[in-house]
Amino acid sequence: MMRRPLISGNWKMHFTVPEGLEYALHLRQDLSPYAALVDVLILPPSVMLWEIANALRGSPIKVGAQNAGWEDQGAFTGEISPKMLAGWCEYLLIGHSERRQVFRETDEELNRKVRAAFRHRLKVILAVGETLEEYDAGRTADVITLQMTAGLYQVELQHPVDLSIAYEPVWAIGTGRAATPEYANETMALIRRLLVRNFGEAASAMRVIYGGSVTPANARSLMAQQEIDGALVGGASLKAGDFTQIVKAAAEVTESQRV
Ligand code: 13P
Repeated sequence: MMRRPLISGNWKMHFTVPEGLEYALHLRQDLSPYAALVDVLILPPSVMLWEIANALRGSPIKVGAQNAGWEDQGAFTGEISPKMLAGWCEYLLIGHSERRQVFRETDEELNRKVRAAFRHRLKVILAVGETLEEYDAGRTADVITLQMTAGLYQVELQHPVDLSIAYEPVWAIGTGRAATPEYANETMALIRRLLVRNFGEAASAMRVIYGGSVTPANARSLMAQQEIDGALVGGASLKAGDFTQIVKAAAEVTESQRV
């Protein structure tokens, strides 16, 4: 881990609004002590985002959206826009594999979303990752290269640190079968090279984080890898105890690498 770590909790489609609010307040208590060393981010469902952002204002816990469209406004029933998030919601996750697979979002659409998000000064986490079929066929590098190249096409950045890449092998998501730290590290080194190719020196500020069955048990060995700058946590982010352990592991690894 070379950069300031980013540990993010993707709540996906979980919790009612009151439950989500209560949980966010709980996390604020538990996680604030680690925020000196780690960027802690939660990604609640959009229906409760405003309420939670207000409740966490002034705290070091950051808030982001799981998805948004690319237009500012208009006849797009069911969609939310990056303009609606601007000014109060700090981060936006784009291209999660569930968006790609279940909702059939294409690389071209995701690229539009990335550019729209930056237009509105949101910080972007672009998610990439190969499916099991692609992994088995040895196509990981090709798939990642395509998703990165298409997703970042003509993306211009004022602040390089505003772009992070989440590497989430689809076969590791929700399966309890995380990538080995070595395998994740190797693929994330490729992502780093692609960032450098695209952005030159500015790439050194960008974080590349790992997602896919991150737990308190494997967090430390993942974070200890050179190319892993943090985590995107699904299931384990829904339990305060587990998420806190993961944030704590990142803080401890950071601390130990300082001395
Ligand atoms: P799990 O941590 O539940 O495997 O989910 C990972 C993920 O999709 C985070 O975005």
